[in-house]
Amino acid sequence: MAAGELQRATASAAGKVILLGEHVVVHGHPGLVAGIDRGVRVTIVPCAPGTPPVRADAALDAASALARRLLGLGDRSFLVEIDGNLPIGMGLGSSAALAVALLRALAASGGMPLTDAEVAEHAHQIERLFHGTPSGVDSTAATYGGVLWFAAGPPVRHERLTLRAPLPLVVVLSRTPHATARTVGSLRERAAAAPEVYQPVFAAIAALVGAARRALEGDERARLGELMTMNHGLLRACGVSTAELDALVAAALDAGAAGAKLTGAGGGGAVIALPAAAPEPLLAALAAQGHECFVATVGVPTATGGVEA
Ligand code: MEV
Repeated sequence: MAAGELQRATASAAGKVILLGEHVVVHGHPGLVAGIDRGVRVTIVPCAPGTPPVRADAALDAASALARRLLGLGDRSFLVEIDGNLPIGMGLGSSAALAVALLRALAASGGMPLTDAEVAEHAHQIERLFHGTPSGVDSTAATYGGVLWFAAGPPVRHERLTLRAPLPLVVVLSRTPHATARTVGSLRERAAAAPEVYQPVFAAIAALVGAARRALEGDERARLGELMTMNHGLLRACGVSTAELDALVAAALDAGAAGAKLTGAGGGGAVIALPAAAPEPLLAALAAQGHECFVATVGVPTATGGVEA
């Protein structure tokens, strides 16, 4: 490759579900997150300077411009093609997956080495464009995949957990997009106004996260489900759930799930349900009620890290 020349390159990154601990990670407590086997794929297509974008998208343009600057790619021109099978705006980490795939594809396009730590740090900066003050949990999950214990720090820390067996979850989509900046900002304001009320609730969620880590590593599914449902109750108490998400959690529990909760920022988005045994009957019961849902198995290799030649 001639110095400075970009090549066509493609990279993928996985979406995620937060198993427990969303929102409290923003307030310094740990959370549990897992990459899922659905993701976003980005192709960088080098082009002549001044080529107009195929489809104008202000957020993507801003992310591309920041990625170009972070990687020191100067004014070299490229188009960004995106595809994938991850629902967008549903709390499943689509913006972080986009940021990670974009960075990896651009780095491959420019023939530049990029460590995972650099990818995670740059993706966190791009996530700030999208969401204001993210904890870094989504960009960490999109970078590393797997099942992670995460703490925002500083410094940001994560530990990869080893499951005894892959864990199937049923992801149920609501009909309303999630609202990360709004729910995070509003909870931050309420917690700042009444710390004596909110901090004990955050600490209770952190205790659930600790217990859930032990349940995950010990393959104690009924216990994990119980903790997930308790986490949902506390997220609801914090005001980040909606009547629609509560109804989806109730529907999953009625259909026999071992546990269920909203996942991600709330205000809309998705619910995760932990099947008591095989996921198919739970999936079928929820689909029969007209809910859009799919099985996501965590603890298995995901697309994260993939760069195609
Ligand atoms: C969003 O996936 C998770 C939140 O905790 C926000 C964040 O950690 O940046 C709600």
